[in-house]
Amino acid sequence: MIKLTNEERKSLVNLANEARKLAYAPYSKYRVGAALRTKTGRIFTGVNVENAVYPHTMCAERVAIFKAVSEGETEFDVIAVATDNGGSPCGGCRQVIVEFGLDTIVLIADGEGKLQKEMTISELLPEAFTPAHLL
Ligand code: THU
Repeated sequence: MIKLTNEERKSLVNLANEARKLAYAPYSKYRVGAALRTKTGRIFTGVNVENAVYPHTMCAERVAIFKAVSEGETEFDVIAVATDNGGSPCGGCRQVIVEFGLDTIVLIADGEGKLQKEMTISELLPEAFTPAHLL
């Protein structure tokens, strides 16, 4: 399991909060930003992208993960998620994060860049259904 320095935490949270400015959230007005760091050290950001047909909305965490996977990266150390009020990743995003490893660290921050919570995805989604159940 990796250890993060405070500088790393701060930098990822800042990136998530910066990304948040690009959120496309005209309906909920709830802007979410994510910053995902791969084991190779690359960073992928994501924002929520809403749609006039509401269910087609995509969460920020999944945008970041899908960007990474579509560029050949499937191993992740940490994902930072920033919202105005320190909201927690939704169940669907937890499931998508856990697909790529139980030890990924999740940093949950507010709009002022304050780290509200830090835990592994397996703490956030206990008893998860994982690829090991199928492979
Ligand atoms: N949202 C995310 O981007 N990530 C989450 O984990 C929770 C919710 C977005 C989806 C929608 O655009 C808005 O927040 C309100 O649900």
